Amino acid sequence: MSTQVAKARNLFTALESELNTEHIERRPVIRSLLVGLISRQHAVLLGPPGTGKSRLVRDVCSRVGGNYFEWLLTRMSTPEELFGPVSLKALENDSYRRITTGKLPEAEIGYLDECFKGSSAILNTLLGVLNERVFHNDGQPTPIPLQMAVGASNELPEDREELGALWDRFLLRHVVDYIRDQADFTRMLTLSARPAAQTQLTLGDLAQAQQEALQVDLSAILPTVVALRSEVQKIGVMVSDRRWHDAMTVVRANAWLNGNTAADENDLDILQHVLWSEPEQRATVAKTVLMMVSPFDQEAQDILDDAVELYHAAINAPEESQTQAGLEANKALKSAAKRLHTIVEKAEDAGKPCRRAEQGLQDVAMWGQEVLTKCLRAG
Ligand SMILES: Nc1ncnc2c1ncn2[C@@H]1O[C@H](COP(=O)(O)OP(=O)(O)OP(=O)(O)O)[C@@H](O)[C@H]1O
Ligand SMILES: [Mg+2]
Repeated sequence: MSTQVAKARNLFTALESELNTEHIERRPVIRSLLVGLISRQHAVLLGPPGTGKSRLVRDVCSRVGGNYFEWLLTRMSTPEELFGPVSLKALENDSYRRITTGKLPEAEIGYLDECFKGSSAILNTLLGVLNERVFHNDGQPTPIPLQMAVGASNELPEDREELGALWDRFLLRHVVDYIRDQADFTRMLTLSARPAAQTQLTLGDLAQAQQEALQVDLSAILPTVVALRSEVQKIGVMVSDRRWHDAMTVVRANAWLNGNTAADENDLDILQHVLWSEPEQRATVAKTVLMMVSPFDQEAQDILDDAVELYHAAINAPEESQTQAGLEANKALKSAAKRLHTIVEKAEDAGKPCRRAEQGLQDVAMWGQEVLTKCLRAG
């Protein structure tokens, strides 16, 4: 890697870790937003009000130089709002040209809040802008500098007939929910409204990252992608060839962020946020992807899912049953730690990664400590 590239990657790594301290339980979303910037793909966040979607997107966007355009769409929104007013001067000459200054056609990053609320008058132009990165101004196709658009919405578009095409433009898809963990939640309570921004990227840094990511070698993982396609078909999820093709750009960006010049199987984990289209497919798609790319992590995840449930049950148990729930959780967490240890050993023997199991061991230890002090009053 050249020094310039190392600089771009160091900046992205620093930015990612800052974002992860400022936005709680948003690690996968943050990764996808950075991957979206590097691969020039669009992302969408679905989630109930007050899950910190806007705060996160604004923070990510404010770290990158260039023009930023944000708009809250309503059913009444007009094309002027997104694409600029029609020039009166041009009208005098029978030309229907929009003044795009400060609007989406001149933005490097666009944030469309309530993106599925836009009227059909907006939709067609928007599709062209997102897909071709071309804005037709008075019939004149004009290339636009858009690097990434992020959409946010409280719910999936109901009218898939009309909005399906827009939904399809978002390669990276996330559903965000309220903070799960109590300690995380407590930390959120005192976070400042405006995240402290330290690391800033220029458009030059971004271009460098994009260029370098394009060079990432995919050859080693292509057979796994082919096998993954069969597995995804088996669970009845349809993914278009275009989507599979575009998915490789996010795999490259993910690999680059992971510090790889050739992608390995771990870099495919990002596909769990690409291959689903109905929310109910999310869990099975994630499982299928993880089984394929890191079976040990998937095994660890299953153990952790059970463990976290018992941990939550214990610390949220009513006073009178807290000791009983604490004892049960304590036993389960000990057994989970033992099984995670075995997975780490198995993975090491097989020369496979198992980040989830390693990280999970720390989580389980932390939960165990909390159960001991809160439920069993151990000092
Ligand atoms: N995961 C989180 N990390 C940090 N802060 C959070 C998180 N979730 C919610 N918040 C807090 O909630 C506030 C409101 O979040 P924000 O307005 O970004 O939500 P939203 O998801 O965009 O809501 P809406 O759908 O109504 O637009 C944030 O400013 C922040 O203080
Ligand atoms: Mg919002």
